[in-house]
Amino acid sequence: MALLEVEDLSVTFARRGQRAVHAVDGVSFSVDAGEVVGLVGESGCGKSVTSLAIMGLLPKQPGLRVGGKAVFDGTDLLQLDDRSRRDIRGRDIAMIFQDPLSSLNPVIPIGLQVTEVLARHRGMKGETAAKEAAALLDRVGIPDPKRRLKEYPHQLSGGMRQRALIAMAVACQPRLLIADEPTTALDVTIQAQILELLKELVRDSGTALLMITHDLGVVAGMVDTVNVLYGGRVVETARRRPLFRQPRHPYTVGLLGSVPRLDAGRGEKLNPIPGSVRDLLPWPDGCAFAPRCARRIDECVGEPPELVHAHDGRSYRCVNPEPLPGMVPAPREEESA
Ligand SMILES: Nc1ncnc2c1ncn2[C@@H]1O[C@H](COP(=O)(O)OP(=O)(O)OP(=O)(O)O)[C@@H](O)[C@H]1O
Ligand SMILES: [Mg+2]
Repeated sequence: MALLEVEDLSVTFARRGQRAVHAVDGVSFSVDAGEVVGLVGESGCGKSVTSLAIMGLLPKQPGLRVGGKAVFDGTDLLQLDDRSRRDIRGRDIAMIFQDPLSSLNPVIPIGLQVTEVLARHRGMKGETAAKEAAALLDRVGIPDPKRRLKEYPHQLSGGMRQRALIAMAVACQPRLLIADEPTTALDVTIQAQILELLKELVRDSGTALLMITHDLGVVAGMVDTVNVLYGGRVVETARRRPLFRQPRHPYTVGLLGSVPRLDAGRGEKLNPIPGSVRDLLPWPDGCAFAPRCARRIDECVGEPPELVHAHDGRSYRCVNPEPLPGMVPAPREEESA
C-alpha cells in the first residue's frame, strides 16, 4: 500500500455572487515510501491548493469545500480533527514552502525554532536539543551553526533561511516531506545546492518527497514519478524517463517544448504553449486543455476525457494522445469514409 494515497481530491472556493473556482477537480495520485513524486504544471493549475488541502492548511474561509480522500498510512487526513492533524503534521509529514521568510517566526532566533520542533516531536530538551539543532544546521550545510542558532531569520540570507527550514522539516524525521516550489525564490547556484540536499535526505533517511514545481529541470534532476496537472486535474502520470522520452498528453509535450535546451541550434526558438491557463474549458464540457491544444479533434469537446491506463504503466487523460513512434494512427471516420 502507498504511504500517501490521494483519491479524487477536490477543492472548490465559492463566493456569493461569483462563479465558484474548482481549484482542484478530482485529483488522484500516490506516493510510496522513499519515493520522489512530482506535481508539475503551470501557475494556477492547483499545485499549492492540493498540498495545502492534504496538510489541512487551507484558509478556513466561507464557501470552501473539500472532497475526496488523502489517506496517509491508513488514516484519511481529511477526516481528522485539527488536533490530530497537527500531531501528524510535523511528526509524520513536514512541509517546506516557497517563501522561507513567511514560514519562519521573525522574532524568535533560529535555534529556538529548531529546538522547539525537537522538543515537541522528539521530546528533546536543554543541552541535548541544542546539540541536535546544531548538528541539523550543520547537516543542511549552514556554516558555524552554533553562532547561526542565536541569529534571527532576517540575519540569514535567502538560501540559509531555506536551509534552516529544511533543517526544521527533517528535525522530526518525517516519513513524508512536501516541498512546494522550495527553490523558486533562490538564485540558480543555491537552487542546485538545495535540490542536492533534498535528494541526499531522501536517499539517506528513506523519507518520501512530494515535490511541487513548475520547473521541469527540477523534475528531470530528481523525480521518480511525475504527475502533470492541468486545470485542477492530473492529465498524465508516468515515470520520469518515459515521460521525458515519449510524453503522450499534448500538454506534457507543450511543457517539454517550452524548456530551453543547451543542444538547440542558435536562433532556434522556444515553443511556448499558445494561450494561457486561463483559457480553459470547464472539465464537464470537455478537455480543459482543448482551447490551446494542437491535437484537438471534435471528440475533445462535449464530455471530459476519461483517464486511459496504458500498458506501459502510465496514464493520461486524452482522446487523441501523441502517438508512440512506429504507431500508425487509426484512421478517423471522415478520412476512411
Ligand atoms: N483562498 C483562495 N480563494 C479563492 N481562490 C483560490 C484561493 N487559493 C487559490 N485559489 C485559486 O485556485 C487556483 C489554483 O491555485 P494554486 O495556488 O493551487 O496554483 P499553483 O498551481 O500552486 O500555482 P503557482 O505555480 O502560481 O504557485 C487558482 O486559480 C487560484 O486563483
Ligand atoms: Mg503554488
